[in-house]
Amino acid sequence: MLITKIYTTDEIEKAANELRLGELIAFPTETVYGLGADATNEQAVKRVYLAKGRPSDNPLIVTVSSRKMVEEYVESLPERAVKLMDAFWPGPLTMILKIKEGALSKAVTGGLETAAFLETVAIRFPSDKNARSLIDAAGIPVAAPSANRSGKPSPTTAQHVYHDLEGRIAGILDDGPTQVGVESTIIDLSSEHPVILRPGAVTVEQLEEVLKETVLSDKHKVGMKEVPKAPGMKYKHYAPDAQVLIVKAGDWDKALLWRKNKQERVGVMAFNEVLKNADLPKKLSYSLGDTVFDASRRLFAGLRYFDSEEKVDFILCAGVKEAGLGEAYMNRLKKSAGNVFFDEI
Ligand code: TXA
Ligand code: MG
Repeated sequence: MLITKIYTTDEIEKAANELRLGELIAFPTETVYGLGADATNEQAVKRVYLAKGRPSDNPLIVTVSSRKMVEEYVESLPERAVKLMDAFWPGPLTMILKIKEGALSKAVTGGLETAAFLETVAIRFPSDKNARSLIDAAGIPVAAPSANRSGKPSPTTAQHVYHDLEGRIAGILDDGPTQVGVESTIIDLSSEHPVILRPGAVTVEQLEEVLKETVLSDKHKVGMKEVPKAPGMKYKHYAPDAQVLIVKAGDWDKALLWRKNKQERVGVMAFNEVLKNADLPKKLSYSLGDTVFDASRRLFAGLRYFDSEEKVDFILCAGVKEAGLGEAYMNRLKKSAGNVFFDEI
């Protein structure tokens, strides 16, 4: 078993050196913590799948620290990509582009066992200062999925990463909690029309404004047999052991009463406005703050809190309007709840 080192932001050079040697280093980005490996090193990338317990057909995002790096790994840069880079990079937007053959490890594209994803690659240029310094110092493209065990909520602190991956990775660069809290928006630019594969902090509205065209969302249901556009979508996600129930704003009185009469332990994740009037044991309440930005930042931490520190059987969690950042928040919450709302039980 490896000893997982915690690096401070003064030790970026050391962490970068480990990456260059083919070791796995988790690091903060503005969205969630990523699990980094040299994207050109097949052995290193294979270890990412092992450490996470990730199915090998689920491709990884390649993280870069400059636009120039992108050109080395993609076949060409479509005009749409250039427009989106100008508007949103560095930042929480991942683009799917046609890959340049042989430029990256095959394992990155999920192509170890199937040939299905060899044609495209997901590229992200994070705005987080430390993420950029780490990639710069390593001087390589860094394959970096979220640094959680497969199926668990993405980590928003170094402690979350440590909890999931201690003994499985060489180190974690710790810079406290992340800013956005939900993973980047993923837009597919490899086919005729731009399609959002995963909503994030860069919203549909913002993308359409820059591209001056309709951007579709890939909302069709993904069955196990067909090959989904973002392969990660077919797997169980963000799921704590407890059953999560989504509570619509108007249903809190009913939900809190239900909780009171329940034999099992029920945790509550709600906005301060609701919590201040709810008569709840402190340990069973987790604040989502006051706004959808706060809630997105805290969602995964709350789910993890009720999964490890304060184990419960049910989690009542606030739903929000599915617009702007609310779309990304609800996308993650619905997955963690298996789409179950409180008013349906
Ligand atoms: O904010 C983020 O994007 C974080 C931070 C760490 O950068 N990363 C992240 O990576 O969320 P991951 O691997 O947990 O999620 C990436 C998603 C997966 O659902 C995967 O299936 C999809 O992107 N993906 C990766 N490459 C793809 C490709 N070539 N075509 C379609 N989907 C792809
Ligand atoms: Mg992930």
